[in-house]
Amino acid sequence: MRFIDIEETIKKRKSVRTYDGRPLTDADRAKLEEVIGEICSSESPFPGKIKITILDAGSSAETEKLGTYGVIRGANTFLCVTAEKTEGVMEAVGYNFEKLVLAATEMGLGTCWMAGTFNRNSFKNALEIGENEIFPIISPIGYEAEKTSFMGNLLRTFSKAGSRKAFGEVFRNGDFANELTEDEAGEYAFPLEMVRLAPSAVNRQPWRVVMKDGNFHFYKEIMAGGKVSLDLQSLDVAIGACHFHLAAESGGLAGKFVKEKPEVKAPAGMEYMFTWKTE
Ligand SMILES: Cc1cc2nc3c(=O)[nH]c(=O)nc-3n(C[C@H](O)[C@H](O)[C@H](O)COP(=O)(O)O)c2cc1C
Repeated sequence: MRFIDIEETIKKRKSVRTYDGRPLTDADRAKLEEVIGEICSSESPFPGKIKITILDAGSSAETEKLGTYGVIRGANTFLCVTAEKTEGVMEAVGYNFEKLVLAATEMGLGTCWMAGTFNRNSFKNALEIGENEIFPIISPIGYEAEKTSFMGNLLRTFSKAGSRKAFGEVFRNGDFANELTEDEAGEYAFPLEMVRLAPSAVNRQPWRVVMKDGNFHFYKEIMAGGKVSLDLQSLDVAIGACHFHLAAESGGLAGKFVKEKPEVKAPAGMEYMFTWKTE
C-alpha cells in the first residue's frame, strides 16, 4: 500500500471522538472496502488471520447509548476487528489495523482505536464471531465534527493525547543503559520518530527500541498490574512497527521484521518482541 506522504499522514492522525453525524459517502465506503480487501489479503510481516467489518450501527443517538458509553458522539459507522486466536495475532491486529487507520486519515476520515470504552456485547450481536476468534478492537469511522464534545475533550486531557515521551527515553543505543540520539540513529531517525508519534492505549507508549549492530530490536514495557486479558502492549508495539515499516519503506531503507532475540540485557518488565533486520 502506498501513501502519498506518510509523515504528513502520521502527524495528522489523532483520535477523533466527535463526529458530525453524516453517513459515509458511497465513494468513501467503496474506497474503504477496497483498502480493507487489500490489507486482509496481502502478506504482512506479522502472521495472523484478521477480519475487518464495516458495521452500520443505526442512528448516532442509538450508538451513543448502546455502544460506547457516550465516549463517541455522532458516529454511525464502526470498523470492527475480529481475528483468529493464534500465537502473535495481536501483532497482526496492531500492524494491519493501523495501516487502515492511516489510509482513512489520508482520505480525510476520523478514527479512534478502542479496546476499552465500548460495550463488546452490543457489538458482538451484530457480528459473526467464531468459537476460535477474538474481538479486540473497534473504531468509529466518519467525518470529524467542528466542535469536540465535552467527553472528547476530557479524554484528550486525561490521556495527555498530544504528548509523547522523549526520543532518548524510548530508543536506546547498544543496550538499555544508553539513550539513543537522533544523530546516532542516522537515516533511521525518521522511522523511529514515526514510532514515537504512534497512538497507544491510554497513551502509555510501551514501545522501546534498542539499536544494536545496525538492527533495531523492539520490546514492550509490561505495565504494573501485569497482563490483562487483552495484550494491549503487544498491540501498541505493533502499531509502532507499522509506522516504522511505512516510514522505512518511504525512505528506501531495506529490511524485514524477524524474531531473533538479541544478546541484550533487558531490565525487569521489558519483554522482547521482534527485530527490524536491515538488509
Ligand atoms: C490499542 C488502543 C486502545 C485504545 N482504546 C481506547 C478506548 O477504549 N477508548 C478511547 O477513548 N480511546 C482509546 N484509545 C485511544 C488512545 O487513548 C489515544 O490513541 C492516545 O491517547 C493518544 O492520542 P491520539 O490518538 O490522539 O494521538 C486507544 C488506543 C489504542 C492504540
